[in-house]
Amino acid sequence: MAFFRSVSFSEPLPAITGAGVVLRMPVASDYAEWAALREQSRVFLTPWEPTWPVDDLTRSAFRRRLKRYAEDQRNDLAYAFLIFRSGDNALVGGLTLANIRRGVAQTGSIGYWVGQPFARMGYMTAAVRTLIPFCFGPLRLHRLEAACIPTNAASVGLLEKSGFKREGYARGYLCINGAWQDHLLYARLKDDRD
Ligand SMILES: CC(C)(COP(=O)(O)OP(=O)(O)OC[C@H]1O[C@@H](n2cnc3c(N)ncnc32)[C@H](O)[C@@H]1OP(=O)(O)O)[C@@H](O)C(=O)NCCC(=O)NCCS
Repeated sequence: MAFFRSVSFSEPLPAITGAGVVLRMPVASDYAEWAALREQSRVFLTPWEPTWPVDDLTRSAFRRRLKRYAEDQRNDLAYAFLIFRSGDNALVGGLTLANIRRGVAQTGSIGYWVGQPFARMGYMTAAVRTLIPFCFGPLRLHRLEAACIPTNAASVGLLEKSGFKREGYARGYLCINGAWQDHLLYARLKDDRD
């Protein structure tokens, strides 16, 4: 597939199809479904995410979000995807590759969320499995990192099921839900197997 041979940072990425899911960049017309799913999942998501700004679910904040995503992609700093269920194209969640460091690192970090009605149905496992070949193929990364709060059993389970190895423990690593929280550090290398 031509897409897997090269990536143009300045153009919208084509959608990436996986097993039961499609990953694609968010666009303005995703706003209503995105905001509804995030609102419906607020209690489920907020303990594990940076504090949501008060205007986070507004259309203008979504527009700003899209601008930031486009700029980050142009600069090869981050790639943000929404995850859609194959078949009916329902939005189920989001998956972002961020903090890309080139040069001798060739590393990026993944972050993810799934809407509460779609939790524990295998969608994020499928999405991460879809993203991995894109990262190690056309993006030429060598290492993918992820971090999660030790009590986040869902995230720990997802990472371990997706071939990430636990590498360490970082104190006060990220400000999540308004507090600096310790995190478990995970990584998967290009040549690691599931
Ligand atoms: C973490 C999260 C993205 C997982 O998405 P998901 O689509 O539900 O994950 P999957 O259905 O693919 O499950 C993958 C594995 O994760 C683990 N898991 C998922 N939900 C779990 C739960 N409620 N309790 C324990 N383990 C769970 C299991 O090991 C599961 O594999 P299994 O079903 O074969 O046992 C989702 O729970 C979520 O969005 N949580 C809130 C936000 C969040 O934690 N973001 C990440 C911050 S680091």
